[in-house]
Amino acid sequence: MDAADVDADLTNTLFTEEQIQSRLGELAKQIEADYEGEDLLIVGVLRGAVMVMADLARSFNRHVEMDWMAVSSYGSGTKSSGVVRILKDLDTDISGRHVLIVDEIIDTGLTLSWLTSNLNSRNPASVTICTLLRKPEAVRMDVDVKYVGWDIANEFVVGYGLDYHEKYRNLRSIGTLAPHVYA
Ligand code: PRP
Repeated sequence: MDAADVDADLTNTLFTEEQIQSRLGELAKQIEADYEGEDLLIVGVLRGAVMVMADLARSFNRHVEMDWMAVSSYGSGTKSSGVVRILKDLDTDISGRHVLIVDEIIDTGLTLSWLTSNLNSRNPASVTICTLLRKPEAVRMDVDVKYVGWDIANEFVVGYGLDYHEKYRNLRSIGTLAPHVYA
């Protein structure tokens, strides 16, 4: 789906498909350099991270193993509940492994902060975070994020995995949702 298909629902396009792909390419290069000669497991946080995982993984010129977790952190609205629980755990034993958590957005930081400590308790070699977007103004819990695509304003954004009531995830770009949609 393109921005033109949901034009009336968006106030603007924040990042085009091309900008996203190019930024992910840069992040992949950085990650490759940092993990040179190391085994790497990337962990996507369902469901929003599906697009970032798919495109980041394909940007690598090296082998990378992929696994997934699903946690609940939000209700169906726009506010974080602060409640985090595991809906689907990893299939991989991460002890002694280098783990890179991949997500599409860090909002309050509650989810990733909780997830990082949870994974760290499993004796991995390391746990780092890569997020496409981060909202510095929304942070309630500081999270150490090594790879960030872009810092953005505290607005409701959709597309490229980001949803509103399960819609807009399949939008190729990332846009700001018009207030009339969620008012
Ligand atoms: C989003 C996103 C992060 C989390 C960030 O997931 O993928 O995991 O919210 O928010 P926080 O920093 O305030 O904790 P969401 O719970 O919306 O689920 P989804 O990936 O299935 O859309």
